Amino acid sequence: MSDLAIAAATRVLARNWRGSYTVPAAGLYPHQWSWDSAFIAIGLRHISPRRAQQELDTIFSAQWGDGRLPQIVFNPRLDVQYSPGAAFWRSDLIPNSPPVPTSGLIQPPNHALAALLVHQADPEASDRRRFLPRAYDRLRAWHGYLARRRTAASGLVHVVHPWESGMDNSPYWDAPLAAIGDTFGEDIPRPDLDHADASHRPSNAEYGKYLSLAARYRDHDCDDRDDGHPFVLEDPAVNALYARSEWALGQIAELLGHDPAPHVERARAITASLGSLWVPELGCYVARDVVSGQLQRFRTVSGVAPLLIPDLPHTAELLATLEGEHFALGRAALVPSHDLTAPTFDSARYWRGPSWFNTAWLIAEALHERGFAEEARGLASRMADLGLEHDFPEYVDPHSGEPRGTLRFSWTAALSLDLYERLHTRGETL
Ligand code: SER
Repeated sequence: MSDLAIAAATRVLARNWRGSYTVPAAGLYPHQWSWDSAFIAIGLRHISPRRAQQELDTIFSAQWGDGRLPQIVFNPRLDVQYSPGAAFWRSDLIPNSPPVPTSGLIQPPNHALAALLVHQADPEASDRRRFLPRAYDRLRAWHGYLARRRTAASGLVHVVHPWESGMDNSPYWDAPLAAIGDTFGEDIPRPDLDHADASHRPSNAEYGKYLSLAARYRDHDCDDRDDGHPFVLEDPAVNALYARSEWALGQIAELLGHDPAPHVERARAITASLGSLWVPELGCYVARDVVSGQLQRFRTVSGVAPLLIPDLPHTAELLATLEGEHFALGRAALVPSHDLTAPTFDSARYWRGPSWFNTAWLIAEALHERGFAEEARGLASRMADLGLEHDFPEYVDPHSGEPRGTLRFSWTAALSLDLYERLHTRGETL
């Protein structure tokens, strides 16, 4: 990544900035998304630590009374441009919701990791604005919600909708969605198809199930007390981010003079529970359908994401899986979202094969932290090159590196910038 690329990434983030948060992409995603904002803040901290703090403060200000951080904070003026929007969720009618309109679902908990990195970018500016104590309270409530309302007997957090995993059409969800009879009917709004090719997006059949599940969750006041809810899944990446974020929360607690032990204990407990998702024959973790009890035996990038957790028992096997034919680390463009050799692999369609920059960042970070410096550096420089070459695409074809989805995508710009800054400007050994 050259100075030219830094300038180009900075321009994308300026163009997508809306005064107190950044939209993921101007047309396709015109509101604030939860895990996008956390990833974006990780890059923004190099441009403006203050803006990065604001990005997280804005998502924190939409926290629900029960502690959840919502998947989307809506700009109601743009309601017809995105579906399902504020009028679908009508969150103002749901107990515990914040004063701003939001979705009732959640997204993966990467926020504590982002808050720590944002603080570290400029500890003095952070202290002046009392960013860390404020973030710590919000993050404790957020993780408290996950522990209280979303943790099953297995010790793992579950998602109640594919959108909550951030990986909407992962093959993990095929069987659980097929088992659900209800769908939304014929008239499925797809404003997303004005901004991206239909062959790069989830199908209409999937959207029918997505909308019907979301409506059911909303109609139960998003209270997590619907015993018959038909979609309850334990996802490896969601749990890996939860564990990694608990480690980050422990570091934040220490910086603030609080006891880190409860966070470390929780991180260790999640790591131990993840053992039940490990499939030795596949060399990776998989998701479990809590309703049917079945493991969903696919290799996906979610199943290698636990590499991010310190003291994980299967680090060597995960590295071998990444380097083998299924993910072809160093040979494929970035890290494919799904096994290159699987019959369900599709090089263009969202989370069924294309390589994304946020998961490349997670894997690069994990490789770096686990001591695989050369592999981490290689991945980081390919992210920067592909980002600049294709105007910061949402995702790329893992074989050709060609752009897919939309362009000028915020986390692509932010995370490429982050790795470049650490690698070159600061000389960190990533
Ligand atoms: N990823 C979803 C979308 O495509 C929502 O989180 O709109």
